[in-house]
Amino acid sequence: MQIKDVQDDIAEELISHEALEGKIRRMAVKVSEDYEGKDPLLIAVLKGAANVMTTFSQAMTIPVEIDYMSLSTYGSGTRSAGKVTVRQDLSTDVAGRHVLIVEDIIDSGFTLDWLVNELKSRGAASVEIFAMLGKPARRKFDVPVKYKGFEIPDKFVVGYGLDYDERYRNLDSIAVLKPSVYQ
Ligand code: IMP
Ligand code: MG
Ligand code: MG
Ligand code: MG
Repeated sequence: MQIKDVQDDIAEELISHEALEGKIRRMAVKVSEDYEGKDPLLIAVLKGAANVMTTFSQAMTIPVEIDYMSLSTYGSGTRSAGKVTVRQDLSTDVAGRHVLIVEDIIDSGFTLDWLVNELKSRGAASVEIFAMLGKPARRKFDVPVKYKGFEIPDKFVVGYGLDYDERYRNLDSIAVLKPSVYQ
């Protein structure tokens, strides 16, 4: 029997598991210092940011509240569709809260621009962003990202929550797929 190995579809590993988690944990310690006494609310956008939220929140040293939101900006392709739809909303009232958005990747910035404005209009006391990855070459919206993980080149990446057509979220590193996967 032929066993399909997910690694067979990987062209190149961009960021190793160790480097990725080391950086996420260091950022979480720094954020814990900055938010001491502020009772922050961490918000992640599903599904992509679920992995980074888990690692990040476990490395925080202060009490935090965690909530999730499901938004849709991408279909099954590799380019932003240019429209945000709320699939599932937060269960927390953000009014008066110090919110930190924990994101997988900032690409054009469209999704985060929309989300920051939405949370501010709901009355959040402050809204900041931790983005595990950023693609500076593709930025179209000027969203201030206070806490940055890695900056990557303009390549479509998968792993650590990021998908291509709902696959590869379970890779424990950040990788580029072989072109044959898209064909
Ligand atoms: P933006 O609105 O263009 O910044 O795109 C944000 C969302 O698109 C991210 O939260 C991801 O879900 C998805 N995305 C952007 N770039 C990539 C990528 O390289 N791989 C997988 N998903 C991506
Ligand atoms: Mg995301
Ligand atoms: Mg998304
Ligand atoms: Mg996706």
